[in-house]
Amino acid sequence: MAQKSRETFGSRAGVLLAMAGSAIGLGNIWRFPYMLGQNGGAAFLLMYVIMLLVFCLPVLISEYLVGRRGASNPYRCFSVLAPGTGWRWIGLLAVLSSACILSFYCVVGGWSVKYLVESCMNGFTAGQNYGELFGAFIGNAWKPLVYTMIFLGLTGLIIVLGVRKGIERMSKIMIKVLFVIIVLVVVRSLSLPGALDGVRYMFVPDFSKVTTSVMVAAMGQAFFSLSIGCGTIMTYASYVRKDENIAATSAGVAFFDTLFAIIAGLAIIPAVFAAAAQNGTAANVEAGPGLVFITLPGVFSSMPLGRIAAVLFFLSLLLAAITSAISLMEVVVSFVIEEMHRSRGRAVLAAFLLCGGVGVLCSLSFGPLENFRLFGLGIFDFFDYLTSNILLPAGGLLLTFFAGWHLKKDNYLDELTNGGTIRIPHWLCCTIFYLVKWVAPIGIALILLNCLFF
Ligand code: PFF
Repeated sequence: MAQKSRETFGSRAGVLLAMAGSAIGLGNIWRFPYMLGQNGGAAFLLMYVIMLLVFCLPVLISEYLVGRRGASNPYRCFSVLAPGTGWRWIGLLAVLSSACILSFYCVVGGWSVKYLVESCMNGFTAGQNYGELFGAFIGNAWKPLVYTMIFLGLTGLIIVLGVRKGIERMSKIMIKVLFVIIVLVVVRSLSLPGALDGVRYMFVPDFSKVTTSVMVAAMGQAFFSLSIGCGTIMTYASYVRKDENIAATSAGVAFFDTLFAIIAGLAIIPAVFAAAAQNGTAANVEAGPGLVFITLPGVFSSMPLGRIAAVLFFLSLLLAAITSAISLMEVVVSFVIEEMHRSRGRAVLAAFLLCGGVGVLCSLSFGPLENFRLFGLGIFDFFDYLTSNILLPAGGLLLTFFAGWHLKKDNYLDELTNGGTIRIPHWLCCTIFYLVKWVAPIGIALILLNCLFF
């Protein structure tokens, strides 16, 4: 049976770092700062933290719990825990969601490879129009495809090595390097004249900016950033030994992920304010998805030691993207290994071809396939929208139904406390369970309805 030969993570720190590696990614460094910029700064941050604690942390704990209890890929987890029922289709949905995310994620991963190469070879010089350069690059038919394939290939290579040698070892190294690098960029960014305005923008909330759409955006970002709702945490949890403390590790992952998002914000937003102060213009923090790739090269080009900061920054973006991409690919790979009985190598090849194939279409949607529309959106935007705003919350919602209503309270608390062997206050266990059973599903359902119908 596949079950008996399953690998496990080698250490407690390894589990935490691998899960944190999945959570910390482009979502923190690329997406969080521009979402913050588009949704009112500190008000968004405040909403994000509330959504994270009330809805997303309970989903994270439940996904971890189901994965450890089921000890297999998401599809089989549900078949094991609810045999002969339709619950296993949630598992299949999770596998499909992961494949969909990886398909557009690898395109942005490819952009970060390109920008790392660019900052090493030529650096960024003042006076260039970085918006045009970025547009010309992503609109090119071939170049972004090559970088996308390099990124996906690197991801596949790490996965071929397996859980301990590949995922655990790489996540352990990369996440630490990433932390050091990004802190260096923060120090550089904060030391620029005018940077303090950016800090104020991030931390002093203007409560009039708290609207429903800000709440929706904050919730979607929290789902994406924590890697919940599509089976990645469940898959990693299936490699965890039974004596791990689920609640503590989940809280650790959520803490590090949020810390990283804030640090990434501090690396970017104050630098944008400083550059604006230097040029005598208003800070354009609302630049959207291009913030990292368009605004930052301009910032780097005009700051002392900018070349080194640029290399360090894009290296950290790439490392963060890879540790998340391996978690997405592992969901598909574990499914192919266990359900289709293929070797790890072949499963990686299958995931590479599937996600790479859709990835090609996503990438071409900025160039030759620009006019091709799915529900009014370009292919890349369609996959981004579909996954972040619909599939992840829907996956999270179904998971809370399963954990809160199918597993039942006794089983849930039993898993949380490892059969009563770890001491977690009873009131805390009950609070977590009621958040899972009532608060999270209602909250997530409201947001989903808002997204689908308004
Ligand atoms: N959390 C990752 C990030 O912030 O970049 C993205 C991600 C990874 C989303 C894995 C979902 C997932 F299952």
